[in-house]
Amino acid sequence: MISTTLSILLLVLLPLVNATAVRRSIPRPGQIGQERPLITPSPASWDPTKTYKKRGVISDLAGDVNSILSGLGSDIPSYVASGVPNFFQGFPTGADVQSSLGLNDSQVKALPTQVLNIPGYANWTDQGWNLRFHGNVFKQPNITEQKLDDLANVFLVGTSVEDLPPSQASQARNLTAEIFIIQQSNQNVTFNLEPAPTAGASGEQGGGGAVTPKGGSQQIKYPIPTDAEGDFDGFVQINENGLEAGNSTIEIQRLNVYTEGDVDGNATSYLIPTTGLGIISDIDDILRVTQIYEPSLGLLNTFAKPFTPWMNMPDIYANWSRTIPNFWFHYLTTTPEQVTRNYMDFIYKNYPGGSFDDRPLNFSDVSATLSIRKFLLDKVFQTFPQRKFVLIADTSNSDVMRDYPAMVTDYPGQVQCIFLRNTTNTDPGDKFPYDTSGFKNISTSMYMFFVVPDDLTNLDIANGQCVNSTIIQNLTFGYQGLPDGVNLGSGKKGSGTLLAASSTWVFAAVVGAAVWAL
Ligand SMILES: *[C@@H]1O[C@H](CO)[C@@H](O)[C@H](O)[C@H]1NC(C)=O
Ligand SMILES: *[C@@H]1O[C@H](CO)[C@@H](O)[C@H](O)[C@H]1NC(C)=O
Ligand SMILES: *[C@@H]1O[C@H](CO)[C@@H](O)[C@H](O)[C@H]1NC(C)=O
Ligand SMILES: *[C@@H]1O[C@H](CO)[C@@H](O)[C@H](O)[C@H]1NC(C)=O
Ligand SMILES: *[C@@H]1O[C@H](CO)[C@@H](O)[C@H](O)[C@H]1NC(C)=O
Ligand SMILES: *[C@@H]1O[C@H](CO)[C@@H](O)[C@H](O)[C@H]1NC(C)=O
Ligand SMILES: *[C@@H]1O[C@H](CO)[C@@H](O)[C@H](O)[C@H]1NC(C)=O
Ligand SMILES: *[C@@H]1O[C@H](CO)[C@@H](O)[C@H](O)[C@H]1NC(C)=O
Ligand SMILES: *[C@@H]1O[C@H](CO)[C@@H](O)[C@H](O)[C@H]1NC(C)=O
Ligand SMILES: *[C@@H]1O[C@H](CO)[C@@H](O)[C@H](O)[C@H]1NC(C)=O
Ligand SMILES: *[C@@H]1O[C@H](CO)[C@@H](O)[C@H](O)[C@H]1NC(C)=O
Ligand SMILES: *[C@@H]1O[C@H](CO)[C@@H](O)[C@H](O)[C@H]1NC(C)=O
Repeated sequence: MISTTLSILLLVLLPLVNATAVRRSIPRPGQIGQERPLITPSPASWDPTKTYKKRGVISDLAGDVNSILSGLGSDIPSYVASGVPNFFQGFPTGADVQSSLGLNDSQVKALPTQVLNIPGYANWTDQGWNLRFHGNVFKQPNITEQKLDDLANVFLVGTSVEDLPPSQASQARNLTAEIFIIQQSNQNVTFNLEPAPTAGASGEQGGGGAVTPKGGSQQIKYPIPTDAEGDFDGFVQINENGLEAGNSTIEIQRLNVYTEGDVDGNATSYLIPTTGLGIISDIDDILRVTQIYEPSLGLLNTFAKPFTPWMNMPDIYANWSRTIPNFWFHYLTTTPEQVTRNYMDFIYKNYPGGSFDDRPLNFSDVSATLSIRKFLLDKVFQTFPQRKFVLIADTSNSDVMRDYPAMVTDYPGQVQCIFLRNTTNTDPGDKFPYDTSGFKNISTSMYMFFVVPDDLTNLDIANGQCVNSTIIQNLTFGYQGLPDGVNLGSGKKGSGTLLAASSTWVFAAVVGAAVWAL
């Protein structure tokens, strides 16, 4: 038991120490695909968004799920180990799904091909608009309700699908079915672009007052077939066809992007002018109630309960959308690609329209999970070197706590404000310590830790007002939120002894492991 506890503590501390080492392992962009013929040449060579990790093949589906959640022995859940609370690790691959359902190739071939099309953005270049297309090509096998229930039950703790109200049971089955899909490699994808109405059909509110362009209709054959995991992600130069140039307009233009051959592959993409202000927003526990730091609640909130906005956050965003001219909303979540549709549906019902980023399938192991946010943030900042961004999330993500302040130093002048919801303040169940040392050398006028959405009201963020002086800041520049109110100053790393001394934290970790091993 003592060694179990020690290994738990080690795993908890490891990522906090190793974060920089992990960052170095990301491959540099631009290494593959350059020699392939592009339909319309892009000055930005194809930009792979991946790390290169081979996943093991597990033949038994239920065993696969269980290996996601348990099989950990004295280990703890990988999301705890990574310091990135995240339920979604190591989803099954298409081959696993196919073999454990006993489907032969001709049965799979008969299934309709579907395309997840993620709302993208374009920057203005010497060759015109350069639009990012990303998503996944897959087939969804028909899994019996009984089997779906069995699979869904593994994701639920302390309850089962049978005990949930019908609507929640239905959502749990749907989400589970979205995870157990067969990705389609080496597929060509073709898109039809058309001017999009200002208010999206899905009910989204404007999106920073984006406008409908006068033209832009065209067909784009994505130049590279899907990768081994069915993903496509890259920029393609599109024709102007009546679009406004990005250096002569300050307005955001909306284009509908229809995927040929799949009525569910619709997205709206955004043509973003060279200069202006935008927000990069996380979703879990800032825009919706997830309680990711309490595993059983987080699972229920994700798998079964309808997605619910966090307090009156939609009002804050709606006001920013109405009052800040040409404000670009970009939703950047590290939730895995398979469940992105649920996130998009929720966002577009409650928040302004905008583009999206999620965790591509190749970022599936724990070390990649730690590096994905910075990778995605870098891509946005590098695509728009003259734009400024407001960054917003909550304190329960260790990658956010490290990466958001790093953007200030890595991209001087590009960060307008950083807002972090202090989840420990409102949720005593949040036992995740968070490291505030990254903020030490940043001007205090640039960031604010806050408690409720109202703390963000009446801030003139467009003119750089990031601080509400009535909200008391309690920064010690080190680990905060440790059990029993312990804070570590001066950016010191937590020591095993200190954590071990805290019975509450050890208990939380052990309970977490026990719950996940169910
Ligand atoms: C994704 O990972 C697989 C190996 O699992 C690799 O073959 C493939 O090239 C990767 N795709 C990209 C775009 O990096
Ligand atoms: C695939 O499975 C179906 C249903 O069991 C069967 O009818 C079909 O002959 C099989 N096809 C091949 C190529 O094995
Ligand atoms: C706008 O961009 C185009 C293409 O990059 C360039 O030819 C033109 O000179 C630019 N105009 C201004 C005013 O910078
Ligand atoms: C899926 O399977 C169920 C029963 O196993 C069947 O009733 C239903 O028609 C199937 N649906 C499709 C699209 O094949
Ligand atoms: C689950 O999916 C089915 C079929 O797509 C749909 O009719 C149903 O409304 C979905 N349930 C929930 C709760 O979203
Ligand atoms: C994809 O397109 C290329 C050339 O445009 C073609 O050679 C290839 O056969 C296509 N692949 C599939 C799977 O249709
Ligand atoms: C996608 O767009 C097409 C073309 O406008 C439309 O027919 C289809 O119903 C849309 N799909 C969804 C799911 O809204
Ligand atoms: C446009 O975006 C691409 C892809 O991120 C980037 O390589 C390029 O430098 C950007 N171009 C400009 C003019 O900012
Ligand atoms: C977050 O809230 C907790 C509880 O009120 C407090 O102890 C902590 O100092 C706060 N952290 C920050 C960074 O404000
Ligand atoms: C800072 O601590 C005070 C006193 O505990 C608390 O009232 C306040 O909400 C905290 N501020 C934040 C941002 O958590
Ligand atoms: C600051 O926060 C308080 C409390 O949430 C709120 O009433 C006020 O409107 C906020 N804005 C400013 C600029 O004080
Ligand atoms: C709405 O946003 C504007 C611009 O950021 C700000 O000046 C105003 O105070 C906000 N209103 C509320 C009620 O938050």
